[in-house]
Amino acid sequence: MRKTIIAGNWKMYKTISEAIELVNALKRELFKLDGDDIDIVLCPPFTALSNVFETLAESNMQLGAQDVFWEEEGAFTGEVSCRMLKDAGCKFVIIGHSERRQYFGETNESVNKKVKAVLKEGLVPIMCVGETIGERERGLTFEVLENHLKGGLKDISAQEAENLVIAYEPVWAIGTGKTATPDQAQEAHKYIRRTLATMYGSELASSIRIQYGGSVKAENISGIMQQEDVDGALVGGASLKTESFAAIVKKASEVIK
Ligand code: 13P
Repeated sequence: MRKTIIAGNWKMYKTISEAIELVNALKRELFKLDGDDIDIVLCPPFTALSNVFETLAESNMQLGAQDVFWEEEGAFTGEVSCRMLKDAGCKFVIIGHSERRQYFGETNESVNKKVKAVLKEGLVPIMCVGETIGERERGLTFEVLENHLKGGLKDISAQEAENLVIAYEPVWAIGTGKTATPDQAQEAHKYIRRTLATMYGSELASSIRIQYGGSVKAENISGIMQQEDVDGALVGGASLKTESFAAIVKKASEVIK
């Protein structure tokens, strides 16, 4: 049994006061859910991490960051280390989001360094993989997934991989309102799990959680979550409002496979 994990990636939205307001409203909506049954993770921008951590104290929600730098410390202007994120209350770190690959020069090599650093610090990496529309149309989806997985997880042992979360985020579904169909999501997730099995064996692969991300809403979460290899969601736009994120979390928690 893989524990469902729903994470909200707030991207570059929310000032500190807006973030606190959203967390307080989510606490009121979601307090009945048991954190032993579902992981609910909020990933605000760096500036709001500490305040969000304080606000979600003793709730069933946990904190994540949207990126990290792999060095422990040093003259790296503008960067934030794993230890700093842990100090701010983070348990999870999103790594290799397609927006970082697209706009900030993230590569499989930098993703790999970040995943290693995050694991070393005892945090959980949420490593993002996924194809563009052009790649899908050229029939390269599986090739891209394999490349992202093998590149991002290079030299990471089975023991370390136990703590991984993978997010399948087809780039064409991010912020576009176009969601992968449940079948498309399952096909990609199954391929990801099969690739993980070739790297780490089927027992470990069957324990690694794989989230779907890309225009997830309350209206489509149930169908996606019902798929065998879908273990949760990484939610962008719909995580910015209490009603939509709370509805997604509740619907996801109701899906029993
Ligand atoms: P949207 O849910 O806005 O499509 O974003 C998905 C995403 O990028 C989550 O990381």
